[in-house]
Amino acid sequence: MASYLLLGKEMQEKPTINLGLEGVYFSESRIAMIDGINGRLYYCGYSIASLAENSTYEETCYLILHGRLPTSEELEKFSAMMKSFRDLPDGIIRLIKEMARNTVPMDTLRTAISALPAYQSNKYENPEEENFAESVNIISKSASIIAAIERFRNGQDYIKPNASLGHAANFLYMLKGSPPDEKHSKILDVMMILHAEHGSNASTFTSIAAASTLSDLYSAITAGISALKGPLHGGADEAALRMLYAIGKPENTAKYIDDALSGKKRIMGFGHRIYKTYDPRARIIKKYLEELENDANGEVRKLAKIEMEAEKIMIDKLGKQKGIWPNVDFFSGPVYISLGISKEIFTPLFAASRSVGWCAHVIEYWKNNRLIRPLDYYTGSIDLEYLPISERR
Ligand SMILES: CC(C)(COP(=O)(O)OP(=O)(O)OC[C@H]1O[C@@H](n2cnc3c(N)ncnc32)[C@H](O)[C@@H]1OP(=O)(O)O)[C@@H](O)C(=O)NCCC(=O)NCCS
Repeated sequence: MASYLLLGKEMQEKPTINLGLEGVYFSESRIAMIDGINGRLYYCGYSIASLAENSTYEETCYLILHGRLPTSEELEKFSAMMKSFRDLPDGIIRLIKEMARNTVPMDTLRTAISALPAYQSNKYENPEEENFAESVNIISKSASIIAAIERFRNGQDYIKPNASLGHAANFLYMLKGSPPDEKHSKILDVMMILHAEHGSNASTFTSIAAASTLSDLYSAITAGISALKGPLHGGADEAALRMLYAIGKPENTAKYIDDALSGKKRIMGFGHRIYKTYDPRARIIKKYLEELENDANGEVRKLAKIEMEAEKIMIDKLGKQKGIWPNVDFFSGPVYISLGISKEIFTPLFAASRSVGWCAHVIEYWKNNRLIRPLDYYTGSIDLEYLPISERR
């Protein structure tokens, strides 16, 4: 009866295998709606374009965690809570300092997040309150951790948060040590909104899978960071920028793409498992890049020109034919560079922005938790004779 679970050989028919879990639904969610055919994305019912235009990262976090927009009083309270969690404990600062010089920032971020429970002494009334407070702690501190990582990487000291600034502006302040430019803060705020949530992607699913064992929130988010790191997922933003540098100048773009595609290589920042059209987040980032181009320095302008050329060629070659269009990671690099953010912390910043989505999904899943335990189809042997090591060839 149970043989189909165990022995591929004894099965009458091979089961359908959804490689990469493609097309598989594993839960219901009220957080994000992604329409990959028409290029639409909604957080709790609000289109990404309207949130980018009108909201702030703090307000979007509230929306994602609570499922509705806050009143002004609620937002004020939530923003104050985020601020209260910003500063890093001395032990975390020491840990970051120790790691930052010899590991990539994503590894330091992952380790620092997993170390946060060591410094959490608050007692909460109930699990809901605890999950919410831990979420805000992670969302808030992840940005401070990245600022600290970057400063230590550059031989500088940790800068304490500034409570008069919003989340994005405070990050720039903690990164640079000087009052941030208003326009830069606004652009970063929008970038954070665009990266805040995206359904059951690889890192969110990884967080949920870890949480489904009834592990804890910090462990789940640490797992999510691990999954986001790879270049097929969040790591694509840094990889895309490295590709632009490798192309070097706009007139090299066509040859670079031809060589890459004929060598079966991926063009980073293009393609998506769900979007078979233009990623709506990429559209918004492109608009900012075009605006920036007008007042940007030579480097950003050159990178943007290469991007526009690459976009044209890729859409022509693979867009309509294979549904491969620019994704969120394609245009973000030059935007970050124009804000003075180095490529090594692009993916960590993605993780910090996405931490709210991970937390919200984990908390939502826990309300109707079921251990995640899919199957693989065994294709190996059985009943092999165990030979003593001296008799093996
Ligand atoms: C994101 C990604 C992993 C999704 O891939 P997927 O849904 O698993 O799709 P597949 O890997 O099966 O690709 C389907 C086809 O498109 C091609 N393809 C997909 N993305 C491509 C890219 N960026 N450049 C060139 N070809 C690409 C594949 O080679 C494959 O072609 P084939 O059918 O001739 O073999 C993939 O598009 C990719 O590797 N993109 C680059 C990395 C990136 O930007 N990641 C960030 C995503 S937000």
